[in-house]
Amino acid sequence: MTIINKISELEIWLRVNHRDHESLGFVPTMGALHRGHLSLVRYSQADNHRTVCSIFVNPIQFNRAEDLAKYPRMPEEDIRMLEREGCDMVFLPSVEEMYPEKPRQVYRFGPLEEVMEGAFRPGHFNGVAIVVNRFFRMIRPDKAYFGLKDYQQYLIIKEMVRQDQLPVEVIGCPIVRESDGLAMSSRNLRLSEKQRATAPVIFRALSAARDQYRSHTPESLENYILRFFADIPECRPEYVSVANADTLQPVKHWSDARSAVVCVAAYFGEIRLIDNILLY
Ligand code: PAF
Repeated sequence: MTIINKISELEIWLRVNHRDHESLGFVPTMGALHRGHLSLVRYSQADNHRTVCSIFVNPIQFNRAEDLAKYPRMPEEDIRMLEREGCDMVFLPSVEEMYPEKPRQVYRFGPLEEVMEGAFRPGHFNGVAIVVNRFFRMIRPDKAYFGLKDYQQYLIIKEMVRQDQLPVEVIGCPIVRESDGLAMSSRNLRLSEKQRATAPVIFRALSAARDQYRSHTPESLENYILRFFADIPECRPEYVSVANADTLQPVKHWSDARSAVVCVAAYFGEIRLIDNILLY
């Protein structure tokens, strides 16, 4: 596996290793890789001749300085895992390489960014869209793979690709979970033992919601989910949203949405976890 830090070296690698008629798959990450990321690498390998992965903790998508400072970084271990997976190349640029100047682009995603993560993390999706756009323009992949745990991010990236008319197919891949249901996330590493033991309540609540939604209105389903968190002192839910899976706008009546998703963000101590489940 080739390890590249500079955009100029990336250009050369692509010229030498990537033929026009062959397809290139891309898995963008912020490192601290887990089985969820590796599943994206495998999806890419199954679909493409070559797979490129990036590891870059993108400062402009963090809206809390502390979250950025404490984001887990373990590049050597990440590289070993990607090597073992048979990834062809990993791109690990520095912040200066990605942002020689302060980026000024402002994306407008409309109602899609006015809810959930967009509402609670101002500027987050603009930072995600800028960095993914830059990677897409540098690497020029045919297909790019994203975990559906970040469901809103997946829709935002599809929208960015549509607005900028980029020739990339954005593929959402199933959430990978621990055996107790906790969705894999690099942030899980920061949970205390007690927080880690209680965090699977998110998936228990979401699974129960999926099983029970027919006997609820969307509003009463949100309250039903919140009750799972009520008597867990470690857990502080930030939002529970029953949303249209295409637009992410709140669902008032089940018949209004072709497909509906429940999205949750909850703090365990200072660690913020998100998860979601498709209802129908
Ligand atoms: O999902 C992530 O890890 C990040 O938001 C991404 C897509 C790599 C952009 O920095």
